[in-house]
Amino acid sequence: MSEPKKKIALSGVVAGQTAVSTVGKEGVGLTYRGYSIEDLAEHATFEEVAWLVLYGELPNQKQLDSFRKKLTGLRGLPPVLCEILERVPADAHPMDVLRTGCSALGTIEQENESRDAEAIAHRLIAAFPSMLLYWHHFHRSGKRIETQTDAQGVGAHFLQLLHDRPPSSLQARAMDVSLILYAEHEFNASTFTCRVVAGTRADFYSAVTGGIGALRGPLHGGANEASMELIEQFSTADEAEAGLMKMLDEKRTVMGFGHPVYRECDPRSPIIKSWSRKLSNDHPESRIFAISERIEQVMLREKKLFPNLDFFSASAYRFLGIPTAMFTPIFVFARISGWSAHIMEQRANNRLIRPTAEYIGAEPRAFLPMEKRS
Ligand code: COA
Repeated sequence: MSEPKKKIALSGVVAGQTAVSTVGKEGVGLTYRGYSIEDLAEHATFEEVAWLVLYGELPNQKQLDSFRKKLTGLRGLPPVLCEILERVPADAHPMDVLRTGCSALGTIEQENESRDAEAIAHRLIAAFPSMLLYWHHFHRSGKRIETQTDAQGVGAHFLQLLHDRPPSSLQARAMDVSLILYAEHEFNASTFTCRVVAGTRADFYSAVTGGIGALRGPLHGGANEASMELIEQFSTADEAEAGLMKMLDEKRTVMGFGHPVYRECDPRSPIIKSWSRKLSNDHPESRIFAISERIEQVMLREKKLFPNLDFFSASAYRFLGIPTAMFTPIFVFARISGWSAHIMEQRANNRLIRPTAEYIGAEPRAFLPMEKRS
């Protein structure tokens, strides 16, 4: 019997080599540089993981301290970038703000001999949350915020800038774990885009800007926002069950379920689910967790489909007070580490990526003069 036709192009095709991560290999769900995602989410911080993904080994204490210090010092934004962010419309999607911010920074702090790929990777890891929240506060309240905080880590920096107060240790750690889970994922659509752009020998910012564009769609990073839009349609778990049954009857896609590579489970999902559960305790909107859990049960029972990382990230972010339109940008704050590692890996052994198409168009024919065209 032939394999069912996948809806994903190039599924299962090996398009290159990587030493950065493995996804869905038998026995081990997800590894970054050989370490399991379970161990990293349990024992490491996002900065340790970003270092690991970039350089291939876990940092020692001295390396970690100096990396943290460096990232903390890179949170401020150049005045020209602030001016550009002020001109980006208030109703722009936050992903478009990051895409524009990244591209603009590439004109202000250009890649050259003294500012190399490594320096730009560090800069973008440190500055993406600052860019988004500078734009956010300027358009919401006219405030030109100071983006240089001394918060411990990228996740806490983001939450502090968003809420104008330091997060609790539970909130900071939940955010940190979420960034670890989103940091890297082999040849997904956005990472592959980064590698295709890097393969042309374009600059680092062009590769990342392309990656942000690919990540924006609801079939990739945008699924966490789409999941929240689904969940918040319902006020109770029973209502969610009835709504889901209707959606499945109508053969609609339920965002946050299924995966292009994992066949039985997304190993990141139970981890973010446990953090979502912890954050839901005593939260006024804890019903969001009960609704999410019921949707998970219905999808498993009716379709044998499991939630991917995006599904329970949605409720976790809601409990952290993060606006839905910022969910996919958080993916960028984390995935910039993976993208950077892949761009460097691509450059280290570069070949232009240029596949071939199967032609299904018109047969060769004579040029048609204007007077004969309909
Ligand atoms: N909702 C409803 N049905 C779904 C589904 C979903 N989220 N995901 C898969 N299915 C259905 C498929 O349509 C297919 O049904 P069919 O056999 O009747 O055609 C069946 O389940 C098996 O599909 P599968 O081969 O596992 O999925 P895929 O590899 O073709 O697609 C995705 C994978 C990710 C594109 C798909 O699951 C999807 O669109 N998910 C929602 C978007 C999302 O969460 N994206 C983030 C991914 S990390």
